[in-house]
Amino acid sequence: MDDRTGTTAYKSDSNTIEIEPSASSLSFEQEQFMKDVQQGLTNSPKSLPCKYFYDQRGSELFEQICQLDEYYITRTELALLNKINTELAQMIGPQATIIEPGAGAGIKIQALLNSLDSPHSYVPMDISKDFLFYSANIIQSKFPDIQIMPIQGDFTHPVEWQGREKHHNRIVFFPGSTIGNFDKQSAIEFLNSMRSLVGSTGALIIGADLLKERYILESAYDDSKGVTAAFNKNILARINSELGGNFNLDNFSHRARLNQREQRIEMHLLSKIEQTVSIGSHRFSFASGESIHTENSHKYTIDSFLQMASAAGFRALKTWTDEDELFSVHYLVQNE
Ligand code: AVJ
Repeated sequence: MDDRTGTTAYKSDSNTIEIEPSASSLSFEQEQFMKDVQQGLTNSPKSLPCKYFYDQRGSELFEQICQLDEYYITRTELALLNKINTELAQMIGPQATIIEPGAGAGIKIQALLNSLDSPHSYVPMDISKDFLFYSANIIQSKFPDIQIMPIQGDFTHPVEWQGREKHHNRIVFFPGSTIGNFDKQSAIEFLNSMRSLVGSTGALIIGADLLKERYILESAYDDSKGVTAAFNKNILARINSELGGNFNLDNFSHRARLNQREQRIEMHLLSKIEQTVSIGSHRFSFASGESIHTENSHKYTIDSFLQMASAAGFRALKTWTDEDELFSVHYLVQNE
């Protein structure tokens, strides 16, 4: 366990898993961040990977987004999960190991764990270390009998944690439509690696946001309080504080648009003026109106989602949606 987290409330050290040697993890991560930023801002059009939204501040802003009136996703999925919890618990069975990539604040998992028959362990994984251990502690205090084994890291590289959890009833819980951030090819690769993780005896419970009217989608990603705008710009604030950048956040504006053809919401940061920004010794020029593409959030139909799942070797034992068909939850098992 990394000392810098200052969290010691686990039952024992053997309940924790380290990905990187703790002394080098920070600089390794910042080096990778720098490489990705350099690459993304050299690309044309410019882009930045959306996983860098989530430092402590970014994770807090995302939690605020989840409370917004316009952001229907979180409350709709939570209500749906609460409705189907008993059914899920029956399908999952006893002594399950629940693995959650991108664990976040842990509200949804608590509802699930509450309904399960004697769950064995919970393996949350998140890129934001402080946030991960903070929530892991909360879950541990509420579920003293469950083994909690947090993993700090980037779940888009699942190879780092495959094989670490040998317990047989492995259930991956991937709510929130986080799958929507992947392009189709990476989504299939990710699903495929989740399929080999859960094997022939486990399952993947996954939330997928459904394609709907443009106005509803664009409002959800461009809220009236400006929380999503602040969330989007937080990536520039991180570049400033962690990589020595000098972005003036006021010189960029937030934009969220439905790309109908690609069936996704795109978030961009638009340069309001012609400007040059330096990051360490590197300089990047922006034309007035030039965009940095920061996030894709794909939206699915039930069919398009299940087609993608099937390309990764999964079939749905069951699919649920809310009454208004805003959101879907799928119980996927390995084909054959
Ligand atoms: C956490 C990826 C599900 O795409 O809806 C929220 C992130 N971005 N508002 C989403 C997000 C802007 C969110 N996911």
